[in-house]
Amino acid sequence: MADASKRSMTLTDDATGKSWKLPVFDGTVGPSVIDIRKLYSDTGYFTHDPGFTSTSSCESKITFIDGDKGILLHRGYPIDELANKSDFLEVAYLLQYGELPNATQKEDWVKHITYHTMVHEQLSSFFSGFRRDAHPMAIMCGVVGALSAFYHDSTDIHDEEQREIACHRLIAKMPTLAAMAYKYSLGQPFVYPQNSLSFAENFLYMTFSVPAEPYKINPVLAKAMDKIFILHADHEQNASTSTVRLASSSGANPFACIAAGITSLWGPAHGGANEAVLKMLMEIGSKDKIPEIVKRAKDKSDTFRLMGFGHRVYKNYDPRAKVMQETCREVLAELGIKNDPLLETAMELERIALQDDYFVQKKLYPNVDFYSGIILRAMGFPMSMFTVLFALARTAGWVAHWQEQFRDGEQKIGRPRQLYTGSVQRPFLPVGQRK
Ligand code: CMC
Repeated sequence: MADASKRSMTLTDDATGKSWKLPVFDGTVGPSVIDIRKLYSDTGYFTHDPGFTSTSSCESKITFIDGDKGILLHRGYPIDELANKSDFLEVAYLLQYGELPNATQKEDWVKHITYHTMVHEQLSSFFSGFRRDAHPMAIMCGVVGALSAFYHDSTDIHDEEQREIACHRLIAKMPTLAAMAYKYSLGQPFVYPQNSLSFAENFLYMTFSVPAEPYKINPVLAKAMDKIFILHADHEQNASTSTVRLASSSGANPFACIAAGITSLWGPAHGGANEAVLKMLMEIGSKDKIPEIVKRAKDKSDTFRLMGFGHRVYKNYDPRAKVMQETCREVLAELGIKNDPLLETAMELERIALQDDYFVQKKLYPNVDFYSGIILRAMGFPMSMFTVLFALARTAGWVAHWQEQFRDGEQKIGRPRQLYTGSVQRPFLPVGQRK
């Protein structure tokens, strides 16, 4: 931490009356932290915080969230401004280097990323080891991890230049691999990237074009795709980013770390929620079934949750959900989809839930995943690809955090402790003497 602590808090053990001063550090905005790094050596106690609800795991300058006000800033810039005025590669640069690029820097950056979009030809044969009906996230966990076997010249984490190249490769190759996972599921040939296209255009081209026909990119859909990527680019120390940081803390190579992030993102409580939302909306089917589903979501004896609702940090409307809702309207209008029953169900569900005491009191609002599935489905993506698109975009954030960790002189291997409640030491009995 940059400055020595100027204030402290006192911790008192009521049983013994002993007390200890704990340093307090302030960020630029947001809650201050109590520094407990020496707590165990000074007091013999651990802190206990499953799920890290009150624990800061690192110092970071990348993303700030004010969950009560519904604010999300990347390097100080509000997410809605970035989504409406910037583009994904520019945001990826911002996350990585801390500033928006000037014209020369941008040209250079786009060129670097563009010229890394192809994957080693032999990686293509990796895909055929998977069943055609494999979930594309299962394929992504495998092939992204496999990049470490193909790019040996960018796995030395102590070499700054190699780290930089690894970041370029990961951001650039994720769309190619994601499109390949989709093509493989259809039994269609892989489509090579086109360097004349923008990042989002290229992804749509590799995903939806076939060699037998010309493919015309729809600029409205390409813009929407780019916006969706921006909205998913980073979200500070979420489960997958923390997974990347934890994996990296052991010195693992960048491709292995990002593969770890992908596995963590896959779960329905995190990136898998966009797929789960659409399944839920389809199951609801019509507006008259909404009260029933809301009742189930409130029932403690039922494990069902309203997917796309609630967030660990946001206790207000997720600012990404607002932009996503606008984008949803733009895409549906462009595609001439009027009165989409799924959108109508989603909006009615949102209206009813936001008036319901349960959701109001628990401050459960729509999150980024609530509307994204409707847009992606309208654009032609199958549900199984939704989380893959999230992973593609979040790679920009993952690599930025991965790099930041190396610049943080105070980082150690991540090694949480535990409150042990199992057996105390006991004698081993030979099998014949056991009950
Ligand atoms: N539907 C019904 N009840 C809910 C929901 C929901 N979607 N979310 C939270 N609650 C209730 C929960 O039962 C608990 O009630 P109580 O205090 O009576 O036990 C209370 O609200 C607090 O929930 P929590 O599980 O302690 O909160 P959390 O911070 O651990 O979980 C969450 C956050 C996102 C996992 C959770 O809200 C959830 O499961 N939402 C649905 C899945 C979803 O949409 N996930 C995407 C998150 S945004 C994208 C991303 O970051 O990946």
